[in-house]
Amino acid sequence: MIHVTGLNKTFSGVQALKHIDLHIKPGEMVALIGSSGSGKSTLMRHICGLTVSDRNSGEVKVNGYTIQKNGALSGNIRDIRTHIGVIFQQFNLVGRISVARNVALGALGRTPFLHGLAGHFSPEDVELTLRALERVGIRDKAWQRTSTLSGGQQQRAAIARALVQRSEVLLADEPIASLDPESARNVMDTLQELNRTDGMTVVVTLHQVDYAVRYCPRTVALKKGEIVFDGPTRDLTPAMLNSLYGAESRELFGEKSSVRAIVPSSVRGERTAAAA
Ligand SMILES: Nc1ncnc2c1ncn2[C@@H]1O[C@H](COP(=O)(O)OP(=O)(O)OP(=O)(O)O)[C@@H](O)[C@H]1O
Ligand SMILES: [Mg+2]
Repeated sequence: MIHVTGLNKTFSGVQALKHIDLHIKPGEMVALIGSSGSGKSTLMRHICGLTVSDRNSGEVKVNGYTIQKNGALSGNIRDIRTHIGVIFQQFNLVGRISVARNVALGALGRTPFLHGLAGHFSPEDVELTLRALERVGIRDKAWQRTSTLSGGQQQRAAIARALVQRSEVLLADEPIASLDPESARNVMDTLQELNRTDGMTVVVTLHQVDYAVRYCPRTVALKKGEIVFDGPTRDLTPAMLNSLYGAESRELFGEKSSVRAIVPSSVRGERTAAAA
């Protein structure tokens, strides 16, 4: 579903991505982790064609479509992008219009920024929109201004938009970063449901490794623009996490810097008596 091959990206002398090779099969749910500045968002933006790689450096394909190649975006990137659901922190919903309208714009494969906010929707679009909102649990918010929703509700509205878009791929960049634990679980549960029930391929960047452990069978870890781990999340080791986060791990995992505490023993590879 997603093929990234030999991708490099340099921002004014800083190499943000270094020879990235990443292949994700249909129906996978993958966590992208790494410390701040490791390149997670940059990689996500390359996958959906919001950023182009260095010249002559690799290729991104999604669902058979070439997104970019050798530093040039595909000519019909706008059409292709309508097949990719994105939940990005800075690229989300329009606050001053209703939740339903934001979501319905997804049904038309339109972004509010490109196509203005006017326009009518067919009864089918409205039906689809309300059903999507129902599914993510905020049907009752449909006609509210989007800016009046909580952070978690807005993330769920963004997921609903991907649903009406019928996208097979969902890229979510830190969808739970600013949420309380309950809202974070709700959002992750919703992503998991779409992955399991609809077979949607989900790639989600996460700051909290425990959510990767709980929700994503596969984890890809970036460090200074390089993939340093790609495999079953259960194979992540405390040593790997310490190497990823270093001093930051104290902040992320609590005072005792206890990576061990947030990674269940099953994930650490320590067999329980029952499993042994
Ligand atoms: N538009 C840009 N111009 C210049 N440098 C950039 C730009 N976007 C990203 N970078 C740099 O690329 C590197 C990777 O940034 P990126 O935003 O991908 O990190 P991240 O892993 O998403 O971090 P965070 O966890 O803080 O969101 C950083 O060094 C960042 O400063
Ligand atoms: Mg980021």
